[in-house]
Amino acid sequence: MATQATFRIWRGDPAGGEFQDYATSVEEGMVVLDAVHRIQAQQAPDLAVRWNCKAGKCGSCSAEINGMPKLMCMTRLSDINLEAPVTLEPMHSFPPIRDLVTDVSWNFRAKKTIKPFKPRTPDADDGTWRMQQADVERVQEFRKCIECFLCQDVCHVLREHYKHDEFIGPRLLVYAAALEMHPLDIEDRVSDLRHKHSIGYCNITTCCRQVCPESITITENAIIPLKERVVDRYFDPIKSLFHIL
Ligand code: SF4
Ligand code: F3S
Ligand code: FES
Repeated sequence: MATQATFRIWRGDPAGGEFQDYATSVEEGMVVLDAVHRIQAQQAPDLAVRWNCKAGKCGSCSAEINGMPKLMCMTRLSDINLEAPVTLEPMHSFPPIRDLVTDVSWNFRAKKTIKPFKPRTPDADDGTWRMQQADVERVQEFRKCIECFLCQDVCHVLREHYKHDEFIGPRLLVYAAALEMHPLDIEDRVSDLRHKHSIGYCNITTCCRQVCPESITITENAIIPLKERVVDRYFDPIKSLFHIL
């Protein structure tokens, strides 16, 4: 059965903007992105929204729904109070392009500052490596990332303090963890994590983990182990002496 709902959508560009209300009919089974598409089709053909898969896998439709970073294609209207206007805004941590679309290209530039995969030499003359299954499985979780950047959007270091020039953010700490914990990788990223990527800015609020649509345990499984490596290297007197020697 169709009901009426109001969507309060931010319309604007880098010069500024404002919220505009759109009333539309909604039906059982719809997600927020369906409602945005209906508004776009019937009332606001110039409304800018980015999406691709409508299945929670491309990471394109990230936005803030009633103030919470979420994927619009995975947020069911049945989980939202439709008696009040539903606010839709672009992510706050990235520059707006237009309406619900932001420029997330900083993430890709920052990713390039992380040292790439560097494999150790093969274990055997036939060019093969030996790996423990547990070591392989440890990084599988990190590879689920769809680069929606909702974790980057919610992290206060980027969202409120705009430390983009210094801090790579939770998504890229997950990426660094996938490389650092890879059973074949021998690159050393510990110094960069401390000095270049400013992992110390993370004060383990866990906000990033709470918004991740792939349920990656960002804080506990990626960031904290990386912080432990930094602490071991720089703040454990015996290990830091060993490293200097
Ligand atoms: Fe999105 Fe999770 Fe990847 Fe962050 S870690 S970009 S929230 S999928
Ligand atoms: Fe930010 Fe996540 Fe740390 S939200 S402060 S990177 S735990
Ligand atoms: Fe692909 Fe939403 S449209 S994740």
